Amino acid sequence: MPTTLPADPRVESLIPRMTLEEKAGQLGVFADMVRPFAPDVNPETNVRNATEVLEQVRAGRVGTLFNGVGAEAGREIQRVAVEESRLGIPVLLAADVIHGMRTVFPIPLGEAASFEPDLAERTARATAIEATAAGIHWTYAPAVDIARDQRWGRGAEGAGEDVYLGCRFAAARVRGFQGPDLRAHDSLLATAKHFVAYGAVSAGLDYNFVEIAEGTLRDVHLPPFKAAVDAGALAVMTAFNDINGIPASANHALLTGVLRGEWAFAGVVVSDYTADMELIAHGYAADERHATELAFSAGMDLSMQSGFYAAHLPALVESGRIPMEKLDAAVRRVLSLKAAIGLFDDPYRSLDPAREADASWREAHEALARDAARRSMVLLKNEGGLLPLRRDARIALIGPFARDLDNIEGCWTLFGDRSRYVSLEAGLRAALPDGGARLRVVDGCGLEAPLQGGIEAAVAAAREADVVVLAVGEPQRYSGEAQSRTQIVLPPAQQALAEAVAATGTPVVVLLRNGRALALQGAVRDAQAILVTWFLGSQTGHAVADVLFGDYGPSGRLPVSFPHDSGQQPYFYNHPRTGRPELPDMKEFKARWREHPHQALYPFGHGLTYGQVEYGPTTVESPAVAWDGEAVLRATVRNSGTRGVEEVVQLYVHDRVASRVRPVRELKGFAKLALQPGEAREVEFRLSRADLAFTRADGTQGAEPGWFDAWIAPSAVAGEPAAFELLPPQG
Ligand code: GLC
Repeated sequence: MPTTLPADPRVESLIPRMTLEEKAGQLGVFADMVRPFAPDVNPETNVRNATEVLEQVRAGRVGTLFNGVGAEAGREIQRVAVEESRLGIPVLLAADVIHGMRTVFPIPLGEAASFEPDLAERTARATAIEATAAGIHWTYAPAVDIARDQRWGRGAEGAGEDVYLGCRFAAARVRGFQGPDLRAHDSLLATAKHFVAYGAVSAGLDYNFVEIAEGTLRDVHLPPFKAAVDAGALAVMTAFNDINGIPASANHALLTGVLRGEWAFAGVVVSDYTADMELIAHGYAADERHATELAFSAGMDLSMQSGFYAAHLPALVESGRIPMEKLDAAVRRVLSLKAAIGLFDDPYRSLDPAREADASWREAHEALARDAARRSMVLLKNEGGLLPLRRDARIALIGPFARDLDNIEGCWTLFGDRSRYVSLEAGLRAALPDGGARLRVVDGCGLEAPLQGGIEAAVAAAREADVVVLAVGEPQRYSGEAQSRTQIVLPPAQQALAEAVAATGTPVVVLLRNGRALALQGAVRDAQAILVTWFLGSQTGHAVADVLFGDYGPSGRLPVSFPHDSGQQPYFYNHPRTGRPELPDMKEFKARWREHPHQALYPFGHGLTYGQVEYGPTTVESPAVAWDGEAVLRATVRNSGTRGVEEVVQLYVHDRVASRVRPVRELKGFAKLALQPGEAREVEFRLSRADLAFTRADGTQGAEPGWFDAWIAPSAVAGEPAAFELLPPQG
């Protein structure tokens, strides 16, 4: 259930005393130019300077500042707000702290590959401890957008293409950021973003229009926000895109109808950066005043960076276009939020320079970062058991990421401590005898451009090696906001390096660095082993070495489908069957491309371990399941290999006949099992009709009686199903 915001008498006594300008000021969110500002990650060059911002705070015209850092300077801002403004209302200090603060964890998409929501909760908690120590109360995270088109750059920030996985990680990250007590000095307010269907932008083009069926909106894109709200998130950020012609930031049906009406969300709705201003560019608002009225009336409480609310809300209220009680309701939510995190009791909460200076958390968080990185990697292939590598092998580490420290963080890290980042070379040398006396390191090419003599040096090193570790992938600037790509492939210079190195005949292990699923080609696709490493954060080099040399067996699974070709996008595993599904012996006039089948090269849920895991048949306790009963599904999973493994056992379901066509499979559960060599474990999943619910043809939500297939399997395409029938309600 959503968290309520308790009524606070101090809030009720403030509102009647506030001027219109002060009320509008509390609804304004501005870049914190007072403190050291994050590298400017937003389009506007913030024209305000520190003096002007402090003046706005003193005048009571700023309720929240964002993307500044530092407890000491934060105290000064708060002192001005509390001691020098007329009403002494404390300010909220926010920032984009997405997957780590000083210690950087894997990008959220990579962490989702762990299939360990509790791990995400722990890294979010560690992030909250570091962010609040640095004078931040509120983070604009987690991003919970479902991303089904890998051309879009912001899938890196979420949990991939699946709604069930997305819900689990959304809730875990909210719990981790906020912790058990909102008033604790290390509780970091969470924000579910970007509301909604931002990942469904047409053609994967960021900011583009979204045309989407109501059923898809409700069954795919809304659920992770509901999961975040139910986990206690007290902020939602609106998206840049429109939904079927109505911009998300002025969408009354969604901001008020769904969030407030259906979900009873009690928190605040904040715009994305200048999203209210952009209603004009959308062609939805005629001018600033119109944009302000549309956004506020739709249910957007806070305006980020445009200044529109301060400039136009007072006049809109005075003219009667906006009722005073509606303005007061928004102000009440913001002030109640500040009260809920304890700012009225202690405005200097989380603004303790001594705590910021304390680095007692450093060792534990680095260890967590290393463990999270290890658990996020996905082994796509491992021909001939090439991995794990022997430490006495002659290894050539080749590629532009071999020594790189500029592409450790991924696309959304503002405050990482670069002095602690571990490169691939450093990680391998630390894991090898004599600091890697037999390790050769060659860049071979740049991130995007060839290097003079690079390929020749790489080929020479490959010829003298027993194995090549080829560190290639996307520069981190290729993913994230405004980084849509038409071809989700490696930069040509890197592909050329891979071809030349592979031609030597030395076995190749590809270490892929990526912020999205990629269409692997040529020698990269054909390498003997491929390890997907996303962007792993501070401990990249140590974590990769742990997996390469077998100190940790890979356990991650793909949260996004790797296609054969960019042209398949948007591709996702849980697609409808169509009326002409390709059959093993019938390919003509079927739903496939000339060049490729309607399948992934590597499917959602895929990932190898260093073990040998076998699945017994999926069984169902009773093929007849009462309408109010449960389907009980079981399978035995055995590790017949010689190494311990962690196996992600997945439960998929297909609704054979329904009032709207249903996906060929849908993930409905998973469990990550540690299995010792020879160990067998029976896994059980229980499904009620709530788990089988969807938006039916008549627009209602619920299950429908009929036959279902269920798989307990190692990926979205593996295994044979068991069948059960959900019986109609009796009586
Ligand atoms: C950006 C992003 C959003 C971020 C906000 C504040 O444009 O869309 O995710 O939280 O602006 O930086």
